[in-house]
Amino acid sequence: PLYPVILSGGAGTRLWPMSRALYPKQFLPLAGPDTMLQATARRVAGPGFAAPLVICNEDHRFLVAEQVRAAGLTPGGILLEPEGRNTAPAATVAALSVARADPDGVVLLMPSDHVIADVTAFHESVAMAARAARQGLLVTFGITPEHPETGYGYIRAGAPLEGVPGVHHVARFIEKPDQATADGYLTEGGYLWNGGIFAFTAGTFLEEMARLHPDTVTAARVALDEAAGDLDFVRLAAAPFAGTVALSIDHAVMEHTERAAVVPVSMGWNDVGAWGALWDIGHHDDAGNVLVGDVLADETRDSYIRSEGPLVTVVGLTDAVVVATDDAVLVAPRDQATKVKEIVARLGAAG
Ligand code: GDD
Ligand code: MG
Repeated sequence: PLYPVILSGGAGTRLWPMSRALYPKQFLPLAGPDTMLQATARRVAGPGFAAPLVICNEDHRFLVAEQVRAAGLTPGGILLEPEGRNTAPAATVAALSVARADPDGVVLLMPSDHVIADVTAFHESVAMAARAARQGLLVTFGITPEHPETGYGYIRAGAPLEGVPGVHHVARFIEKPDQATADGYLTEGGYLWNGGIFAFTAGTFLEEMARLHPDTVTAARVALDEAAGDLDFVRLAAAPFAGTVALSIDHAVMEHTERAAVVPVSMGWNDVGAWGALWDIGHHDDAGNVLVGDVLADETRDSYIRSEGPLVTVVGLTDAVVVATDDAVLVAPRDQATKVKEIVARLGAAG
């Protein structure tokens, strides 16, 4: 089977006031009745997939356990990080854990906070990626860019991979380029966005990590060896885990490896980075509004209005975002809603 690993350690501050430190984006039902984590787990439930391993912060263990169970699924394990050290250490621990059961097992590493509208296309691309992964490659999923986004990785596809239709070698991988570079890639053409999903055998990934960051593999192994386990939870040992390199998998491995491949795929991918994205993917009424919850809107167009509690009434707004919870309200022009991140930084822990 494929071994799904779900990364659930992020904060999602651009979706404040719904996304909070103790209740980040992946635990919210932002795009339908399922939370993002539940939708992610459901996407890989079924034949061909082992039960998903979730790796998250210690503070979120009950949220993860409850949400996976509420979706009618059983986790393959929940690995608890004493502190967030970004995705490379998380992926390393997960790969080590899979390797103990099945060193040639193909890991499908996934973010917990994305929307994928076309699950059939996703499954087809996963099958192709798994074939390439079994040939010793680190496989990414390539999304056709729509605008010069600086928050993503960029992939320049190289020659087709022999024997695996639909997969290409990666000529270059650039994580989060600056604005001018991202503009240039879009003008030049031939680049894909990294979808943030990866397929590789546990063995291949660990080999590359050991080559690039040997100390992190050692530290992660000790953190797992010395982990305390109760029920489904595996608590990684804090002291060794603190010795891992605090880098993303993209910076730690993908930018440097010669063994990267990409499956270009069109699957209705959206990383729901900010409120504007929820307007993009939501159900629009005749006036172009996406209205969620107890909301009344008059003479309002092309806006995202959401209430998680109080009745929200809006008159005469265009291209706006209004999000109300029981204790906080955000109002912003739709194209500036990402700036809420700066307000959250100012609020600090109270956010
Ligand atoms: N367990 C764990 N521990 N998970 C983490 C941690 C951590 O320390 N940090 C982040 N995550 C989780 C997040 O919750 C998310 O699901 C996933 O790992 C990716 O982390 P992000 O922080 O959201 O990464 P990003 O969005 O900046 O960039 C990545 O995704 C882009 C696509 O959305 C990169 O892979 C980019 O190259 C890619 O384009
Ligand atoms: Mg992200």
